[in-house]
Amino acid sequence: MNAEEAKKKIESLTEELNHHNYLYYQEAKPEISDYEFDQKLKELEKLEGEYPNLKLPHSPTSRVGGDITKEFETVEHKYPMLSLGNTYSKEELIDFDGRVKRGLGTDDYEYICELKFDGVAISLRYENGILARGITRGDGTKGDDITTNVKTIRSIPLKLRTNDYPESFEVRGEVFMPKQQFKALNESVKRENEQREAEGKSPLTLYANARNTTSGTLKMQDSKIVADRKLDCYLYSYLDDANTYDTHEESLKFLEKAGFHVSQTYWKCTTINDVFDYINHWDQERHKLEVETDGIVIKVNSIAQQSELGFTAKNPRWAISYKFKAESAITTLNDIVYQVGRTGAITPVAELEPVQLAGTTVKRASLHNANEIERLDVRIGDSVNVEKGGEIIPKITSVNLESRPADVAKIQYITECPECGTTLIRKEGEAQHYCPNKESCPTQVQGRIEHFISRNAMDIESLGPRTIAGFLKRNLIKDLSDLYTLTFEDINNLQFEEVDELTGETTKRSIKEKSARNIIDSIQKSKEIPFERVLFGLGIRYVGKTVAEKLAQHFETIDRLMEADFEEIVSVHEIGDRIAESVVEYFRDEESRAMIGRLKDAGLSFKIERQEGAGDQLKDLTFVVSGVFETFGRDELKNLIKQHGGKVASSISSKTNYLVAGANMGPAKKEKADSLGITILDESSFRELLHHD
Ligand code: IVH
Repeated sequence: MNAEEAKKKIESLTEELNHHNYLYYQEAKPEISDYEFDQKLKELEKLEGEYPNLKLPHSPTSRVGGDITKEFETVEHKYPMLSLGNTYSKEELIDFDGRVKRGLGTDDYEYICELKFDGVAISLRYENGILARGITRGDGTKGDDITTNVKTIRSIPLKLRTNDYPESFEVRGEVFMPKQQFKALNESVKRENEQREAEGKSPLTLYANARNTTSGTLKMQDSKIVADRKLDCYLYSYLDDANTYDTHEESLKFLEKAGFHVSQTYWKCTTINDVFDYINHWDQERHKLEVETDGIVIKVNSIAQQSELGFTAKNPRWAISYKFKAESAITTLNDIVYQVGRTGAITPVAELEPVQLAGTTVKRASLHNANEIERLDVRIGDSVNVEKGGEIIPKITSVNLESRPADVAKIQYITECPECGTTLIRKEGEAQHYCPNKESCPTQVQGRIEHFISRNAMDIESLGPRTIAGFLKRNLIKDLSDLYTLTFEDINNLQFEEVDELTGETTKRSIKEKSARNIIDSIQKSKEIPFERVLFGLGIRYVGKTVAEKLAQHFETIDRLMEADFEEIVSVHEIGDRIAESVVEYFRDEESRAMIGRLKDAGLSFKIERQEGAGDQLKDLTFVVSGVFETFGRDELKNLIKQHGGKVASSISSKTNYLVAGANMGPAKKEKADSLGITILDESSFRELLHHD
């Protein structure tokens, strides 16, 4: 094939494949098999490989992804991406309608009502019928150029399907992950987790909701993954300089004709009562759609009238959104069960008569703590109202007292731990009850070990919750430190039974030789984990990752931290009363101290290690550290200086050699340093000085 023939073939394959793509994704009426499609696509890919400069900008091969973007370019929006005013009641909508009427000085106007799709806003630019650019909303005036990723969304035309189009225009819409697709994605994570568990690896977390997943997906560097995620996009705004279309409706019709996905859920309304009908209809029906929606958008139809009404500082005066009320349902409270967390905190959970709510079946709701039960005065057998907003766990909002059966008893909050029977305690000023039986309350022990081995702590990948439960059941371990005395012989071929909480069914499990080796190896390897992560792994209440880092940097060794009193701990930058109290209490406990002794014997790291290769390169130098740093904690930076032989002073003087300056450093400091001729280092030059990366 010569270049001329190749050009022709590339052109015809591009057109043909784009057409089939449209038939498949937009019309759901494919005319060729997937196999034929793939064959043609491969043929095109091959030709494009041979003649890269003949590849067309709207080539369907860009749908497949594969291009990597290291950093998305920030670009200015030609028309700012505004947000909409929100309303929550029909009264507010009547007010909006009144403002429109007064603003236009007439009754003669129409609205287009649309659903408010809960996804990620995108702006697409078309030049001469070809998709030129896809930009995220960003701050409304500037966004990220994510064209490569946008091209993988199959319902977005790379080339318009009509010859009658304005030369250059923008369309806006919402990228979303269809509900089914989102579900399937989480199902695949669950499957992968089963595999991981079998291999003794820790589980991956599920995706929280479709919107955040979409947003994360669009920002991925690898467009291949974006293509695999099967995002979709509804378009709902058209913009150009020439005002080609007289009404919003006409522009939607054009978009449809041009091959865009326009949701067929919009209505034309002539009165505010029509708008209310729209709301009432779609508040119910929306759950059947493949896209999440959280309200409706009302837009004045005529573009001339839109211009007449104009904008406020932030929002158009010709459009507004109405948010659906959080869905609520009435059901019966069957029981209250109590869950025990890893720190012993008790959470009461309502067991409900299953009820349909926002398209899902709800069986449970959180009751938070004893105060919440008291506040609601909810009782077993009560008829209750449950609400669900977004992805949040449903909650009981009120009790229907009029339907309460006679003589139902008030809830007596439990006084003993449901797991171990220990009398619960509740500290003054705290809402939560606690089980104080740290050592042997099984749920707490299990939770603590799970936390200890988690990724940000000891990162013992090969252990999963089920295996730990098995170890506990077989009395192989009682606390964290016992992990380090486990031997291969202890766990190789270990058999244990697992009881399904719901069905009561038991499953037999056993640890195979390969997993056993992995487990022992990764436990041994965890001894290299640095002190701050070990400290975090201990699971001291309120000591999260960052707090653990601060404490480790300040005290440097566990012994010094154990000896420290409340005053000393609270004096550490950003450590408050609650944390300090909790740390003191933890180390006051004999059992905690004994366990730390055992972990020390096992060889875990309990002091800040000198940096690898730390030498004396900062010897005889005096530093002042000021401002906030991106990659170092301030204490961490000071420690690094000390570890490398330098001195840290608190104020600038003629003895200062370097000022390490972060963001937000006061101007006075800079001036003083300048006047004394002191070298100012930013984070990266400091790193260079240290030869530390
Ligand atoms: S029109 C100037 N229509 O809601 C008005 N927006 O708060 C431009 N949205 O950023 C927006 N569905 O991400 C419009 N049918 C719809 C919409 C919609 C969802 C989002 C969009 C926008 C936000 C406005």
